[in-house]
Amino acid sequence: MKERQDIKDFRDRAKELVAEMTLEEKAGLCSGQDCWNTKPIERLKLGAVMMSDGPHGLRKQIGEADNLGIGESVPAVCFPTASALACSFNKELLYEIGKAMGEECLQEQVSVILGPGVNQKRSPLCGRNFEYFSEDPLLSGELAASMIKGIQSTGVSASLKHFAVNNQEKRRMTINAVIDERTLRETYLKAFEIAVKKGKPDTVMCAYNRLNGEYCSENEYLLTNILRKEWGFENTVISDWGAVHDRVLGIKTGLDIEMPGNQGVNDAKVLAAVKNGSLSLTELDKAAENACTLILKGLANKEKDFRYDKKEHHSLAVKALEESAVLLKNEGKLLPGHIGQKAAVIGAFAKTLRYQGAGSSKIHPLKIENPWEMFIEFGADVTYAKGFSLEAKPVNGEAESLREEACQAAGGKDIVYVFAGLPEGYESEGFDRGNMSLPPSQNLLIDAICEENENVVVILIGGAPVELPWIHKVKAVLLAYLGGEGAGRAIVNLLLGYRVPSGKLAETWPIALEDIPCYHYFPGKRLTSEYRESIYIGYRYYEKAGKPVLFPFGYGLTYTEFSYSGLELSEEVCRFGSTFTLSFELLNCGGRKAKEISFIFMAHKSEVVFLPEKELREFIKVELEPGETKRISMTLDTSTLGYYNTAVKDWYCESGEYEVIIGSSSRDCRLAGSIRIDSPAKPQPDFTKSAPSYYRLENKEFTIDEKEFATLYGRTPPKSGGRASRPYSPENTLEDVAHTFIGKIIMMYANWTARKVSKAEKEQEGMMAATIREMSFFAMAASGEEMLPEHVMEGIIEFLNGRYIAGLRKLLKF
Ligand code: BGC
Repeated sequence: MKERQDIKDFRDRAKELVAEMTLEEKAGLCSGQDCWNTKPIERLKLGAVMMSDGPHGLRKQIGEADNLGIGESVPAVCFPTASALACSFNKELLYEIGKAMGEECLQEQVSVILGPGVNQKRSPLCGRNFEYFSEDPLLSGELAASMIKGIQSTGVSASLKHFAVNNQEKRRMTINAVIDERTLRETYLKAFEIAVKKGKPDTVMCAYNRLNGEYCSENEYLLTNILRKEWGFENTVISDWGAVHDRVLGIKTGLDIEMPGNQGVNDAKVLAAVKNGSLSLTELDKAAENACTLILKGLANKEKDFRYDKKEHHSLAVKALEESAVLLKNEGKLLPGHIGQKAAVIGAFAKTLRYQGAGSSKIHPLKIENPWEMFIEFGADVTYAKGFSLEAKPVNGEAESLREEACQAAGGKDIVYVFAGLPEGYESEGFDRGNMSLPPSQNLLIDAICEENENVVVILIGGAPVELPWIHKVKAVLLAYLGGEGAGRAIVNLLLGYRVPSGKLAETWPIALEDIPCYHYFPGKRLTSEYRESIYIGYRYYEKAGKPVLFPFGYGLTYTEFSYSGLELSEEVCRFGSTFTLSFELLNCGGRKAKEISFIFMAHKSEVVFLPEKELREFIKVELEPGETKRISMTLDTSTLGYYNTAVKDWYCESGEYEVIIGSSSRDCRLAGSIRIDSPAKPQPDFTKSAPSYYRLENKEFTIDEKEFATLYGRTPPKSGGRASRPYSPENTLEDVAHTFIGKIIMMYANWTARKVSKAEKEQEGMMAATIREMSFFAMAASGEEMLPEHVMEGIIEFLNGRYIAGLRKLLKF
């Protein structure tokens, strides 16, 4: 690979080039040529560069372009998705995967890969959780930073997405995330902050949604004040595909490149704005320079004949899941199984594994390894039964007969491996799940198999937590999430003990949907999603409320045992802003070489601010031989240990005792010590009287009344919107008008289109239907003439508002 150049090496040249550009060329450079490419400027010998998805492999489209993963793309290695990878807690692994993806981009002449995504897992229901890492911002940010560094080590640019607070698919194009500043900083921006500062991505992609009233694509607070001024981001901001609303405002607030191309419509608006003085030349130049810098870097780092090692990348995908799969239960040490056992392998996923999610991240894999083939390859004595159908609507009576057949296969076997999980139609980009259940046929199947055989192992597939009503009946559970193209090999390696599990949960698995903190507030109402639960997401909530969970954050078993001892802290007292060192001994007291992930949590009790019980401040993964002991040492920077103090608009630790907890999970504390942190006294936000519920969480469904939330939010939250009514505007969605006569007709047409577009892959119908239903008229018209010509859109709105003559005029263009 040739010597790589960094993005900063191109800034000066970009400035010079932009100075030579005409106004039209500058405006043109700030939007794509088409779905994936920037615009070339032949006169200045400036070529175009290509962007492609991301985030767990390359989706370079070759035929018709789309941003929903429908059209064909070149074969590429499909790595485990982020929800799986996060469970590895392994930064080096993420770096390696990033590097491998970068190399694949080099071969395919792609300059920007659209990922990683670091939106937080506010609710397990978010349809896109499989593309995101964790409920913990430190973990998400650190892993993303490593992946970005890996990608960019090849000269390819990464695009950190979706900035910000894009934590739901429901109405993702229009929803207004209503969130208080502290929660925003501590929970939803923190991962971006870490990834931007440590990973230094060449681009950041803005999200579709609004944040506190402003679309993220034109949000000055987000794009200028926080990203650029506070965090020092100097590179290029690109829009999510179709996220732009007011292009001129976008340029003013820091959105450099609009993707995909807008067929000249917005370029013309930009030009007009410069001419009438509402957009300054300096503002346009800045955006054009940022766009040009990215393009120049892409062009300089292109390599003509680069070829990546396909075998090596595939093996990396296998290794990645081996490091990430989580052993959730292993009663009586049923696992690892062995080749000599008579085994039944049950479940359609054993032969047709679901290894990635649906939507824009959907990769055309290089080589899929299904678990069944691996059992055969390894010479296991196995019998297969399908167990359940993956069809959305199975034929009558099929479930019963598949169940019977599976029970027969399970009877008398030494061990039964059941591959169960969420089918593709259940979770996807574009829509959220409505519940946390597995398909009922699978739950019934597992119950029935447990009646036949007591040695049942479930291998769980899916991008996010599900309820496990049969958990007490099965002996073992291995969670494989969506494990990438090598998942079959990795799973069988782990089941048979050729590899030792070392993944731990990067998100809490609640017992039931009602247990989640945002149960009453997700996905919100028509216009807004209120983040009433504030900083309490994931374990920060479950720990404080003392709520039982199915599996806590950080939980995961292995084929050995580890013991912890000898915690030492370098200081008793530490000044806020300085560092201290902690160390402890870790012993592998079992019989297998294995890796342990240790967590450093810190906890503080305040009289003034509400705080979680404990928060993750560091993590480390260490491999030990049987009987081996290692002293693990790490340094913590107290300036990263505080909360976001809105009274002084900065991170702050109040003076006092801080407990240091070394845990094997969030609920398995192995060692504890304490340190005193001394800080200068500062004003702190005190809600003890005005919003006391945030201080005392209880083990019941979480609710916060409007008044307390408004106090925290600092103003009256915007209207959440009931059913939409006249006057309708381009900002309304198809769903908003679905109850009107005209809306019903459009909806029928839209659903028919969704079915037509997704006819090749039935599972994509839900995603297509949701995407169309929740797109605003504005967004449809902005997508171009083919989707909805602007005059037709205006005509429809007139009709919806009962102005039929005006509507006809618009439709007929006179
Ligand atoms: C998704 C992005 C993706 C882009 C391009 C959008 O719909 O939100 O994550 O990178 O499409 O496919």
